[in-house]
Amino acid sequence: MKIENKEYRTIWFDEDNQSVKIIDQTKLPHQFVIKDLKTIKDTINAITTMEVRGAPLIGATAAYGLALAIKENNDHNFIKKSSENLIQSRPTAINLRWAVDRMMKKLSGTNNKNLSKVALKEAKDICDEDEKFCENIGLNGLEIIEKIYNKKNDTVNILTHCNAGWLATINWGTATSPIYHAHKKGIPIHVWVDETRPRNQGANLTSYELNEEEVPNTIIADNTGGILMQRGDVDMCIVGTDRTLSTGDVCNKIGTYLKALAAYDNNVPFYVALPSSTIDWDIKNFKDIPIEELSHVEGLDENNNIKKVLIYPKKSKSLNLAFDVTPAKYVTGLITEKGICEASDVALKKMFN
Ligand code: MRU
Repeated sequence: MKIENKEYRTIWFDEDNQSVKIIDQTKLPHQFVIKDLKTIKDTINAITTMEVRGAPLIGATAAYGLALAIKENNDHNFIKKSSENLIQSRPTAINLRWAVDRMMKKLSGTNNKNLSKVALKEAKDICDEDEKFCENIGLNGLEIIEKIYNKKNDTVNILTHCNAGWLATINWGTATSPIYHAHKKGIPIHVWVDETRPRNQGANLTSYELNEEEVPNTIIADNTGGILMQRGDVDMCIVGTDRTLSTGDVCNKIGTYLKALAAYDNNVPFYVALPSSTIDWDIKNFKDIPIEELSHVEGLDENNNIKKVLIYPKKSKSLNLAFDVTPAKYVTGLITEKGICEASDVALKKMFN
């Protein structure tokens, strides 16, 4: 996708520099900075400080992190320890564990001499696959948007939460991919972008990337979605997910659940877009999903420097859970790389065998 009319992917390996390049998302939308990761420590730092964020991109970064670890030291114990540290760096998005497990499986049995080459290739394969899957999610989701457009014959208003855009994946995004495909096809689209407190991924990232692709959008405070749905100003919701259980329950950025409840009450279809790498086939009870917590917000100060600020009274306690879970019964459908299915154990198993 484009930034200032130039095509980018969110992560790539720079052969000349022997480093992994990322777009530092903590600086967006104020500054566009490409950063080099050279070590496993750099990688873990990029994940924990949210320079990279969004489930598929966190997974891809971890994959490249292992490749960087091998360049530093290809001793088995160091690689194993690096993989454990990576898995702990952000616990909610399952793509992280999925990518590390896939890398470790590929590396096991690989000759020491070839470890580095094999790891770099596998990390790139993970990225290429994610790009393809997100493109397919877009083509599948496009069918839903087309149906709404053909019935309405007017601008399709889509509400999204957090950033499940191309910045959160390798390219296209999950929730945004159907939007980009519809826009490219000439279907008039307008996106309601939830600001997404407390880290403002919607305002800082989703709106930014939609602007760069010239998709009309409006940032709204998180609590606005309900009244817009009551007024008939939302035709559908599409969100991403950090972990979807095989039961169809969807863990995503805090506030998603309340949007799903409002959508349910107003008969607005509520879709979740995800690649199969985001499905957790093991956990059955959503209460067992590890939920991260956050504490600060960031913004520009009067000198245009990015600063962390405290927005609450100093004496107040705060609880900033970063994710919530939307029960499957509120989800109209899951848009995956293989097609659209019901949010249920039976439908997911049928789709993914
Ligand atoms: O805390 P973040 O910014 O990593 O959370 C991101 C989200 O919640 C996204 O909706 C999710 O990862 C899906 S990204 C395609």
